[in-house]
Formats: sequence, C-alpha cells, structure tokens
Amino acid sequence: VQTRIIDGNPIARTVRQGLRQRVEALRALGCVPGLAVVLVGENPVSRIYVRNKIKACAEIGVYSPQVDLPANATEADLLGRIRGLNADPAIHGILVQLPLPGGISGQRVVESIAPHKDVDGFHPCNLGLLAIGQPRFVPCTPAGVMKILEHEEIPVIGKHAVVVGRSNIVGKPMALLLLQSGATVTICHSKTLDLTEQTRRADLLVVAVGKANLVDKEAVKPGAVVIDVGINRLSDGSLAGDVNKHSVLGIASRLTPVPGGVGPMTIAMLLANTVLAAERSLSEQRVATRT
Ligand code: GUN
Repeated sequence: VQTRIIDGNPIARTVRQGLRQRVEALRALGCVPGLAVVLVGENPVSRIYVRNKIKACAEIGVYSPQVDLPANATEADLLGRIRGLNADPAIHGILVQLPLPGGISGQRVVESIAPHKDVDGFHPCNLGLLAIGQPRFVPCTPAGVMKILEHEEIPVIGKHAVVVGRSNIVGKPMALLLLQSGATVTICHSKTLDLTEQTRRADLLVVAVGKANLVDKEAVKPGAVVIDVGINRLSDGSLAGDVNKHSVLGIASRLTPVPGGVGPMTIAMLLANTVLAAERSLSEQRVATRT
C-alpha cells in the first residue's frame, strides 16, 4: 500500500481559525480569555514550549501572562502563586509547564490548580471525569490525536486500538478516549512481554513512549493507522518519533510524521481548552447574575 502521511499543520490551523472566532465573540461580551503559563527554572526545552504556547495564544487573541519562578523556588512559592491565579478572575486557564525542578511534587502542584482552570486536564478530578465518560478538560495531546482521527475520517468504533505508553498525560487518557469512542483497547508498556505480538494486532496503533525506532515494520499490521506521539532528539540534532518511518512506509495505511503530525495539534487543543474555560466562566457568571 501507499502510506498516506497525515499533515497535522492544516488541521491545527483549522482548529485555531474556529477558536479565533469564538475569542472574538467572547471579547464582544467583554470577556478576554486568559491563560497563565507558569515556568519554574531554566529547562531550555520547557522554555521553548512555553514560548510557543504564549505565541499561539497571542495569535488568536488570548491573554497569556508568563509567570516565571526561579530554579530555586520552593514548592510553597509555587503553590502560593497558583493560589493567586486560582482567585484571579482574568485568568481562565492555568498551565504549569512540566517537568518541575527536583524537590517540587508535580502531583501536589497539579492538585492545587482549581479543576475548572486546569486546561491541561491533569487534575485527578478531570482525569476521573474522563474515566467515567463525562470529560471536562481532556489532556491536549490525546485530544489532538482524536481530532486528527475525526478530521481524517478514520473509523474507531469496533477497531482494535493499541496504545503503547501508560503515562497519566498521554497513554492513559488516550486509551480512555479510544475506549469511549468504541474501540477495543489494549495498553502496552515497558513490562509488556511481547510488544510486537500486541502491536501487530492493532488496526489503530498509538505510540507514546519517547524511544526512537521503538516501532518498525515487524510491529505493524499491514493497513494499520499509525499515530506517532514520540518526540526524540537524535544525536545529529534532528527530531524523530517513536516509529521508524522508513520501515513502516508501504505497510501502514496512514502515518503521522514527527515533526509535523501530532505536535501542532497539542497547542491547538490547549487553546481550545482555554477558550472553553472562558466560555464556561462567562455562562456561570450569567447564571449567577441572571442576565
Ligand atoms: N510537559 C510535557 N508535555 C506537557 C503538557 O502537555 N503540559 C505541561 N504543562 N507540561 C508538559
């Protein structure tokens, strides 16, 4: 077969265009959506991610103050800043860029974010709501994958989906979303005995591990749809996914490239969650004041 490469950029652009109109509608009602982006320390990769998120906000008219804390900030410092943002009516979404420096519990920090402002969807409340099929904020990367499947009209109902990776921010929510959409779902991870045996059964294979060349043609059923969520920096400085692209070309029916596949969708879905948070805050306000 000829493998179709799925370009995430035009899909992300379409999402952002729809959001820009919703931001304009909110502004007409006197509400400017606000996303606080919190960065602790100097992690260079985190700094790039934060810069890209803030730039994407500016492009659709979302107010996005960057909250910088020094590398030696304590957990109490960070919790104090989040408390302030939780109480700030100009802020509808709060994102704390991960990973955090040593000594700060990422879990306690995530749990301190008001669930209705948790646009990353990492708070146990939001992951729990997703688990019971009542999602409020869906984590951005798995939400981006679902948007790609929808846009490409890739059927999910009744398909065997295999998710490789069980992180709380990608693998687990990804599996829950596919399950909710009617797939039969297998979750594989580092303790899976025979990974290839499992992945070969997938109609839809989602790989989110962070290990270059983890998946090659032996691991892919002919005609399968392969979604590569991995981002790996190779020794020559280039980027690669978890899937050996050249190996699976001609085997997979479709493949998301790295870079340019799932990546562009992640920020688009962060913007979507932020706009949703602002829309919800406005409608709550209207209920409260009966206008
Ligand atoms: N670090 C890696 N991915 C993410 C993400 O989706 N959100 C945040 N806040 N940090 C991350």
